[in-house]
Amino acid sequence: MYTPEMLGLIKTVEQTRERRLKESFPRLTAEEKANILRSYHPDYMEGSMRPVRVGPNAGEKMPHAHVDLLESRSMVDVDGLSLDTIDYDVDVLVIGGGGAGTAAALLAAEGGADVLLATKLRHGDANTMMAEGGIQAADKENDSPAIHYLDAMGGGGFTNIPELVRALVTDAPLCIQWLESLGCMFSKDPDGTMNSIHGGGTSRKRMHFAHDYTGAEIMRTLRDEARNRGIKVVEFSPAVELLTDDHGQCAGAVLYNLETGQYQVVRAKTVIIATGGSGRLHINDSPTTNHYGATADGLVIAYRAGARLIFLDATQFHPTGVAFPEQIVGQLVTEKVRGLGAQLVNIDGEQFIYPLETRDAVSSAIIRECRERRKGISVPSGYGVWLDSPMIEIIHGKGTIEKELPAMFRQYIRFGINMAEMPIIVYPTLHYQNGGVLINENAESEVPNLYVAGEASGGVHGRNRLMGNSLLDIIVFGRRAGKNAAEKAKTVKLGKLTLDHTKRFNEELKKQGLGQRVAPILLPDYRGKISG
Ligand code: FUM
Repeated sequence: MYTPEMLGLIKTVEQTRERRLKESFPRLTAEEKANILRSYHPDYMEGSMRPVRVGPNAGEKMPHAHVDLLESRSMVDVDGLSLDTIDYDVDVLVIGGGGAGTAAALLAAEGGADVLLATKLRHGDANTMMAEGGIQAADKENDSPAIHYLDAMGGGGFTNIPELVRALVTDAPLCIQWLESLGCMFSKDPDGTMNSIHGGGTSRKRMHFAHDYTGAEIMRTLRDEARNRGIKVVEFSPAVELLTDDHGQCAGAVLYNLETGQYQVVRAKTVIIATGGSGRLHINDSPTTNHYGATADGLVIAYRAGARLIFLDATQFHPTGVAFPEQIVGQLVTEKVRGLGAQLVNIDGEQFIYPLETRDAVSSAIIRECRERRKGISVPSGYGVWLDSPMIEIIHGKGTIEKELPAMFRQYIRFGINMAEMPIIVYPTLHYQNGGVLINENAESEVPNLYVAGEASGGVHGRNRLMGNSLLDIIVFGRRAGKNAAEKAKTVKLGKLTLDHTKRFNEELKKQGLGQRVAPILLPDYRGKISG
């Protein structure tokens, strides 16, 4: 329920709506965009990062929260843990039960591998499940993978690794077909034409979606398929360390059973990390859209095994996180709301940014509007700006919000706010880890026999991902990781299992006087805190 003061402010939004409906706000020039990012984007905030002192990226700056984890010691007693008893012996171990991990497991099994999927919580507890807006694929007549490539490169400020982007956009149409063939229900017109809209930074309407719960629909499809095909899944068992063999290749992992507190040893010829991102580290104390398991576990264990990381200093803040009501601060308001025509508006009812600029620019503009220009709306957690959602009903007809954004509509109605009739208040929220473990187009890391897919990997999105390229990334690189890991497993000969890399890492920590903390942390710790 809005406060009487907020209801008063809404009148200004309503009074300016008719004028704004005819107004198209100019796009930023490249120079304006660079300036706004440098001045307002949290990545550039003084004091928000420091150089990591150990491991393959030593000397490079990253957010403090990541450095804290990478400079932590293992929870495993490396001298005490026996590796003689092997609990699971498989061809391919997939670590992570979200979209990337499940797609990888399916393709690895198709490739003839004996697969085990280990996941920290339940199968499907992942950011995939929470993705709303859509998945990009250039499969319409006015579009092509080449145009998609240019959009993705532009979104990433041309810092993306070109081979990875090429893989992403060329596999995209096939991935949509694959998901459909497994039973994924994308939104369609009555004649069967797939619906598509714009996202920020796209030059063509190529966002495919299932209403505003696209990720949940994709995850449902993949998890059902994994169950139908009998993929072995072990739940509540996060990987807390990788294993290497005496030739230095990745050879499995140590799982930690959250229910019994016991370790389990998995020997595997190839390993795929698909553990997702790190929103629950709350970088810069930001609220987040992420699920509770997003604590960067895969980065930590891959780093200790020698995997190089890339673009960890680039964090994505989604421009439209909920800023009011307080109970759901930080939750996602899908970009689809802007894709359908809602404008971002300040306290005076003025637009201040083209609504579908790339996310880094829109977030920066909102921060500027509130912090510098003082044109935000006061809310208990700070401030926010209006997202004029009723415009959608004016542009597309009454009932569109409930039809196209049913989850979002219900999210607000629970708190007495009808977003079809009243604008909502939003502010940037921590959404995505743009970087991660460096991979090549086969989803291979620099550690032999270690593959990485999805948000845990880095390079494909450069310093800023476009909407809908994350659901695409998890399918494209999940599939590639699964296929390639299964193929590679056919030729791998493993030696003696060791934790030698962890021992070496511990020694490096000791030399630097580090290692007081323990990681992976597995779950965020909110004791004594009120945000979440
Ligand atoms: O706004 C959204 O629906 C988010 C989509 C994404 O991060 O790709």
